[in-house]
Amino acid sequence: MTGRIILTGDRPTGRLHIGHYVGSLRNRVAIQNAGGYEKMFVFIADAQALTDNFDNPEKVRQNIIEVALDYLSVGLDPNKVTLFIQSQIPQLTELTFYYMNLVTVARLQRNPTVKTEITMRGFNAEGEEQAFGSGLPVGFFCYPISQAADITAFKATDVPVGEDQKPMIEQTVEIVRSFNRIYGETLVEPKAVLPTNSACLRLPGTDGKAKMSKSLGNCIYLAESADEMRKKVMSMYTDPLHINVSDPGHIEGNTVFTYLDAFCRDEHFALYWPDYANLDELKAHYQKGGLGDVKCKRFLEKILNDELEPIRARRKEYEKDIPSVYEILKKGSEAAEAAAQATLDEVKKAMKIDYFNDKALIEEQARRFGDL
Ligand code: TRP
Repeated sequence: MTGRIILTGDRPTGRLHIGHYVGSLRNRVAIQNAGGYEKMFVFIADAQALTDNFDNPEKVRQNIIEVALDYLSVGLDPNKVTLFIQSQIPQLTELTFYYMNLVTVARLQRNPTVKTEITMRGFNAEGEEQAFGSGLPVGFFCYPISQAADITAFKATDVPVGEDQKPMIEQTVEIVRSFNRIYGETLVEPKAVLPTNSACLRLPGTDGKAKMSKSLGNCIYLAESADEMRKKVMSMYTDPLHINVSDPGHIEGNTVFTYLDAFCRDEHFALYWPDYANLDELKAHYQKGGLGDVKCKRFLEKILNDELEPIRARRKEYEKDIPSVYEILKKGSEAAEAAAQATLDEVKKAMKIDYFNDKALIEEQARRFGDL
């Protein structure tokens, strides 16, 4: 039996932000550095991004390098991890086509992401809500199947992702089970690896309202300058009832405290705010009253800077040699293609469509026709 195989990816539709970081990227780097796995793959899901950006290929193309730089700058190491681009691995498309036989239209319609797109998607020119309905492109409709191909092509066992991706992993497990039942034990069931800290599962935007999203303008990007980041932290949503410093403050739904939950460790207090031993003490003071938001924001800013500074520095280094970043992706894509081909060979054998390698088939047919 093989050991753990780690695989995950992101759509190249924008720069990655600290929501991606605490939700998955930080986890990936920890897994990478802990070792003990057989292989680790991290990829840029450009073909998937095209399923809902097919009319904007330039956007996807521009964001390949952004995401690659984000990967390298958080500390993913191309000597330990295979970094690759999805569209460069044709075996993934081929697997997708075979897996399509194993999934019903009704099952895809129940997939929460697909369902949202079918029932409510943006507004038309008149400002009316526009649902895709049966106008949903087939490519988008099928992307959960293509995601199953991404995962199974590498026999991934562990998929570190954000919470929103759980339904995709469930869909993959169902496809694996159907495949193995019909064609014989071939594919490996993956499991999602989620952060254990609940603040990290769905980090809200700086406005506190929703999860971070580029269109809402409430993101702190990994590549953010220290200046920009300070402005964003200082304008963060806190507790609207906490008007005077002496007022009791609320922690729930207070973005500054949610971010502290995601980023703060006890040693940060020793370093920057020795009045408190840990976050619980700070929270207790805030709730009692007598602690202002600005002090908490300054503390958060220092912590975020500590975390982002090495990331910014590494990004600057890689930015000096962009062609070498593409070279890393090219080498990674070649290695990934070989791995995916090995699985595709097994899949075709299991599905009895490996005719030219099937000596027994050829002999059997020769005998049959010879006997006529
Ligand atoms: N759906 C993921 C996202 O939106 C990207 C992705 C594509 C992925 N294929 C994957 C993640 C396979 C994990 C495993 O970010």
